[in-house]
Order: sequence, then C-alpha cells, then structure tokens
Amino acid sequence: MHLVTLKNWSETEILETVENGIKIKNYPEKYKHAAGGLSLALLFQKTSTRTRCAGEIGIVQLGGYVHYLDWRTTNFGLADLSDEIRVLSAYVDVILARFLKHADICEAAEAASVPMINGCCDRYHPTQALGDLMTIQEHIGRLDGVKVCFIGVHNNVCNSLIAAGMKVGLEVTVIAPEINPAAEDGELLSEAEKKGCYKAISTDVDHSVLALQEVISESDVVYTDTWIDMEFFTDPNFAEERESRINKMLPYQLNNTLLKGLNCKIMHCLPAHRGYEISGELLDDPRSIIFHQSENRLYSMKAILLHLLNN
Ligand code: CP
Ligand code: NVA
Repeated sequence: MHLVTLKNWSETEILETVENGIKIKNYPEKYKHAAGGLSLALLFQKTSTRTRCAGEIGIVQLGGYVHYLDWRTTNFGLADLSDEIRVLSAYVDVILARFLKHADICEAAEAASVPMINGCCDRYHPTQALGDLMTIQEHIGRLDGVKVCFIGVHNNVCNSLIAAGMKVGLEVTVIAPEINPAAEDGELLSEAEKKGCYKAISTDVDHSVLALQEVISESDVVYTDTWIDMEFFTDPNFAEERESRINKMLPYQLNNTLLKGLNCKIMHCLPAHRGYEISGELLDDPRSIIFHQSENRLYSMKAILLHLLNN
C-alpha cells in the first residue's frame, strides 16, 4: 500500500490516521518502539523543512532508522528511476519521496516493493492534508461538515485538502483566480463537487473585500498557500509569471483588513511568504493555528508511517 494521492485511501483509513496522530502526540512514550528496527529512506528532489524533518525525526522517535538520499549525490539522476527504486526497496521498509513531477512518484510507486509516500509533487501533497485534518479535528473538534475556504492559487495543497476532505465530509470552497497547470485534476474536482464537498467561487466576478469577506464569514477555516511553488520561486524563467501572479493575487492576500471581525481559524501549510499570500501579523494572530498545524506534521507523519508499515 502506498500514499500517492489519497484517492485509494478509505474514510476509515484517513480517520484512523488522524486519530492515531492525536494519540501519538498525547502519548509519545507508548510509540517509542512502534517501528522498532525498521528503516525509512527519504529521497528528495526539492527542498523541504517540515516534510523532511517530520519523516527523519518521526521514524527515529518510533524506534526506527532513517537514510536521507540527496538526488544529486546518488545515481538516481543518472539511471532509470524504476531500477533505482527497486534497489532501494530491497534496503529499506518504506520510502518518502518528494519529486518534481507527479508522473515520477507514480512510476516509483509501481516499481517499489515497499510502501511509497508522496512527500509533495506538483499535483498533490497528501501528507500535508492528513496533518491538516488532524489540526482541524483538534481545534474544531470534528471534520464532518467543517467549512474550509482555500484562497490563493489552486495547487497541490488545495487538491490534497479536497481529496482528503471529501472522504471525511469537509466542505472546501476555493477562491482561486489561478490554477497551477500541473495541478489540474478535473476528475477529483467533479467527484468532490458531486459529493457536496467542493465548490469553486467564480473568479469572473469582481472580488471586493466585502465579497470575499462574505464567503470567508461562512467558513470555519480560511487556508492559503504560496502563489508560486518552491521549484519556481527563484527560477529566472518564471520571473515574468511570478510578477504577473503577484499583481493578480494581491487582492486575495490574507490580511487584517480582509479578516477584520471574522471568527475563523487561519491555516497555511508553510513556508509562508510574508507580504504575499499572507501578511506577517496574521501568523501570530489569535485565530492562527498555523504553528500547531506545522507541529502536527510530525505526529501525523508518524501515524502515516505506522499505518503503511503495519499493512
Ligand atoms: N508544508 C511543507 O510541506 O513544508 P516543507 O516544504 O518545508 O516540507
Ligand atoms: N504548494 C507548495 C507547497 C509547499 C509545502 C509547493 O509545492 O511549493
């Protein structure tokens, strides 16, 4: 069993993983040997703080071992991906990979004889979504019927929030004047829409602060993420697109004016680009649960590892 998109994870598996994350957080001692002697390999083409540390520290706290593989100093870049994954599968018990392209995590999962975890590709970020559900469960006390407004660029994080959310009854409203081309997944969105778990707000209309506030005021949670994915942030070939996105997206920034008087939790997967998708002061706003959310990545990663290792 793998964790590539969450599409093949059942409601029960998702809810159990959320509950186990909370148990692991509250009773860490009980899980000290839960992955005793087992090994995790991390294979990252992109940078990471939370996902990498959650994997590396999480497996060690569960009594296991970790091996971080740098794409540039291994032969992954030279050889056939499937061949190298087959080799790595024989050495470790589970692999957490962050690839640029969704097709590569799919190919790796095909070739792997151990569970493969998608640590964020250009289309999905499933471990983020499972951590987010844990945070919503903790701070709102339920998942079913919780209203989340995602505002920003429709991307990998947004897709996985919808994919995980629709299994457990989250209602995700998306206000996104832009979509990352690689994140387009019409099948996912139409399935979620049919279930009443996803709604897109038309971006043809003029989004004044008042109009945005009206949507957000009906939400329990407002969530944003970077307007530019990490691999493009400093890419000179993306510079023009970056400027055009910033101009287009600034009216959708989460800030004190937009959230004035609104009583919703504020979420962001981090890293945040202060002054772009979110103003700096909101990270420390009393409504922000952003740093609880990032801390929970550790516990939910442990729950994910145990779920996959026990299958
Ligand atoms: N949220 C998240 O995945 O952060 P990293 O890119 O630092 O892992
Ligand atoms: N959408 C962001 C998520 C970072 C965790 C990116 O892919 O860079």
